[in-house]
Amino acid sequence: MAQKELENLGRRHILLGVTGSIAAYKAALLCRLLVTAGAEVKVVMTPLAKQFITPLTMATLSKNPILVDFFNPENGEWNSHVKLGVWADCMLIAPATANTLAKMVSGIADNLLLTSYLSARCPVVVAPAMDLDMYAHPATQQNLATLLKRGVHVAEPGEGELASGLSGKGRMAEPEEIARFVDDLLSEKKKSLEGKHFVVTAGATIEPIDPVRFISNHSSGKMGYALATELARRGARVSLVSGRTALECPRGVDRIDVLSAEEMYRAAVEAFATADGAIMCAAVADYTPKQVADRKLKKGDGELNIELKRTRDIAAELGAHKNGRLLVGFALETHDEELHAEAKLQKKNFDFIVLNSLRDAGAGFRGDTNKVSLIDRTGREDLPLMTKSEVAGRIIDKLETFL
Ligand code: PMT
Repeated sequence: MAQKELENLGRRHILLGVTGSIAAYKAALLCRLLVTAGAEVKVVMTPLAKQFITPLTMATLSKNPILVDFFNPENGEWNSHVKLGVWADCMLIAPATANTLAKMVSGIADNLLLTSYLSARCPVVVAPAMDLDMYAHPATQQNLATLLKRGVHVAEPGEGELASGLSGKGRMAEPEEIARFVDDLLSEKKKSLEGKHFVVTAGATIEPIDPVRFISNHSSGKMGYALATELARRGARVSLVSGRTALECPRGVDRIDVLSAEEMYRAAVEAFATADGAIMCAAVADYTPKQVADRKLKKGDGELNIELKRTRDIAAELGAHKNGRLLVGFALETHDEELHAEAKLQKKNFDFIVLNSLRDAGAGFRGDTNKVSLIDRTGREDLPLMTKSEVAGRIIDKLETFL
């Protein structure tokens, strides 16, 4: 992560709480990021956390002794949780287990991390880490909702492979994301997109053939949701017009669920009426069945031909009624990438277009990374492979230069 992205951590006091989760190994990297960005970090660990990562590692990285017990067993010196709570500009609990979250909700104070939490006067951030079923359990969800209501900030976990071997939501957010989350929280700057309203289209559309079957594509919605998250992070009001996806609505974003290209067209046109701009990230079907059978089509012996008609081009419609507002497009290509992207830039009246190619490993559909080029009327910037969150950051940086 480029250091310039963490601008608000210099000389800030961060109390990093580490609990007993396999994700504790990521706390080492997180600690290093915070210290490198200029923060003073003190680490408080639960007794179980010591089984996952050694106090020596955390002490070396934080440049401070590790706090675990209420007192130092060698000399009886008291570790004052009250002093820690007052010292901190931010208390960050990463990883935060289901157990610690539940204790925070109940006010249980049976270790130094929890007493420090109860004494903290500063913003508190938790980065949950657990197995997918534990995370989805109503008890955990209710505990998180209670903590949110009490003003605790939650750095949402990501989806993917978990220590159990299962796959789903529950893995702790990446250290870079958590550090940026804390950096934002401590930012005293006015948010750069406050007062602006953007429409983002995301995910795949679904074109029904009959009540059972449909035409669609591989878009997961991840790229569009990362853009919506980034816009909201910078203070914008966001209308996220979303095709079907398994993703949760990002915090602070207004999601409008649609299925077909026609539904997406109507929702996007309506939301654009009051917007300052739009980012067209959805993978929209260009064709839809001319007729939708009202009963399941039965197979016969021969071939089946389905007649398709063109859908309406949402981006082109917004481009034709732009009136000085911003319009950013995407192009997903498999060949002659630049040629096709430039043609779309002109035809749809985009201010710039984000080109991703299925020829690049790690780019395009479904994964957590993308490799894109940003093309406008003056030239082209090629970005390296990055997480979709980082790509979203770079796209919004460019968008801000047009405002
Ligand atoms: O969702 P993910 O799994 O994270 O994958 C991300 C992505 C690959 C879907 C995304 O990065 C991307 O490339 N989105 C655009 C895909 C696409 O359909 O591109 P296109 O070249 O067919 O369309 C060009 C532009 O016109 C796009 O901005 C598209 O949103 C828009 N369009 C296309 C057709 C249509 N009827 N209406 C539109 O608005």
